[in-house]
Amino acid sequence: MGDRLDDLRSRESEAREGGGAEKLAAQHAKGKLGARERLDLLLDPGSFFELDMFVKHRTEEFGLATQKFPGDGVVTGHGRIDGRQVWVYSQDFTVFGGSLSEAHAEKICKLLDLALKTGHPVIGLNDSGGARIQEGVASLGGYAEIFLRNTLASGVVPQISAVLGPCAGGAVYSPAITDFVLMVEGISYMFVTGPSVVKTVTHEEISFEELGGASVHGDRSGVAHLTFADEAACLAGIRTLIGYLPANNQEDAPHLESGDDPERRSMELRSVVPENPNKPYDVLRVVEEVVDRESFFQIQPRFAANILIGFARLDGRTVGVVANQPAVLAGVLDIAASVKGARFVRFCDAFNIPLITFVDVPGFLPGTDQEWGGIIKHGAKLLYAYCEATVPKLTVILRKAYGGAYDVMSSKHIRGDLNLAWPTAEIAVMGPKGAVEILWKREIEAADDPGALLEERTEEFRRKFANPYIAAERGYVDAVIDPADTRPLLIGGLRALGGKRDANPPRKHGNIPL
Ligand code: HXC
Repeated sequence: MGDRLDDLRSRESEAREGGGAEKLAAQHAKGKLGARERLDLLLDPGSFFELDMFVKHRTEEFGLATQKFPGDGVVTGHGRIDGRQVWVYSQDFTVFGGSLSEAHAEKICKLLDLALKTGHPVIGLNDSGGARIQEGVASLGGYAEIFLRNTLASGVVPQISAVLGPCAGGAVYSPAITDFVLMVEGISYMFVTGPSVVKTVTHEEISFEELGGASVHGDRSGVAHLTFADEAACLAGIRTLIGYLPANNQEDAPHLESGDDPERRSMELRSVVPENPNKPYDVLRVVEEVVDRESFFQIQPRFAANILIGFARLDGRTVGVVANQPAVLAGVLDIAASVKGARFVRFCDAFNIPLITFVDVPGFLPGTDQEWGGIIKHGAKLLYAYCEATVPKLTVILRKAYGGAYDVMSSKHIRGDLNLAWPTAEIAVMGPKGAVEILWKREIEAADDPGALLEERTEEFRRKFANPYIAAERGYVDAVIDPADTRPLLIGGLRALGGKRDANPPRKHGNIPL
């Protein structure tokens, strides 16, 4: 037995070397960690169990018969994060640039199949030159097998993709299908076609970083949900994110005692909304005052900052927060904000995470850019997502809730469960000035002093209609509340709605306006 164990240990240590010390040094020289070093940082110490460490590719062409590395460029297995089980794969760039062979794909597929059967999240650490060029169509087939499994696991188990190196061509579509994409400044890039193809086709000269680096996808495209300065922060970010999520769509997210008093009132909230309705304020202050202290974890903080989304805890329970941000573009809903909000609402609904919506929205953004860009169908995504969501939906109207945007933002009419309004709420078809300009157009034009009449009528309109009480008379808001009580009332509402059961009509699936 002793010999056999020695043989096993020697095979294991060969597999752990991946492409060898020299290639690992080259990886470090690029400022990147090795595949196993990443797993060490990601998982609870000593919790990783590796699968398929002796798998090799089966290609004989291009001289590959003599170049076989056990594991074939990807480390797969299961481990724990804060004691909770996860499935994980980590591509090893030191072996053929982490490129995806048929065997490499089979390892990832095995993992995804196990994740689906066992109901534990999947974390993919991607660092790959893409399809293994020597394997041709077998590699493309391998990608497609992964895409299929990512899709089938969507909404069943959370899937998180960290992109920690190149991710190009069709390979980008696995992360894109998963729930969260995380990138690191300076080492990650994602694009469908690289700089040289871009130059040939469009004559644009652009660097890897400018085309598909972390900043581009964190700020402009919205492909990345979170970006980090370094890998350690990114891997810590995955641990934090996992802490908010249930293991699967049948389970509840972990309940974490925050030590924050559920009855805590906040006098500060009484003065957050400025007297002047046209003045901005930072809705983040409201969110952070209401949720458990230090619990707000913002997603996509730099993309479409006119809407704010993220996870938080209320009385220790995970909630998804959506808030219009009056400090950016007055909190207007545009294409990017609608899509950002819609995807988040759908994630929360898929995983039974209650939604808390803070509303201060002047409407949808006007203009040709938006209309030609399809604001109609993109805005409809957010509406659709809220309409179909059956999780507890709690809404607080802080100030403006105008027009279609009032309906969209988790209103009573689309199955909002608890709809509260602050006394500063203005719920109307449009803002007072816009309304007066339409309704009294002729009178104002004919007046001796049009400016004075406009002002007078606007003030009158504001007094009569720009308040929460007309909506409250109809039961469209359940209560008008003292802002100081927002936290205890939301926690009370969440407890009251704990046993909520609601369902949509049976169907194969709906047809969200994509
Ligand atoms: C096989 C590959 C490879 C690949 C890299 N390598 N990519 N081997 N198939 N796709 C190997 C290199 O030959 C090299 O081997 C080692 O990995 C490290 O690569 P370097 O080029 O030295 O590294 P670096 O300078 O960091 O450049 C990384 C890179 C570059 C930008 C990713 O390697 C590259 O452009 N690779 C090709 C990318 C590509 O076109 N892939 C196909 C995309 S299309 P040695 O032995 O020298 O160390 C695609 C379609 C998917 O993936 C479709 C799904 C539907």
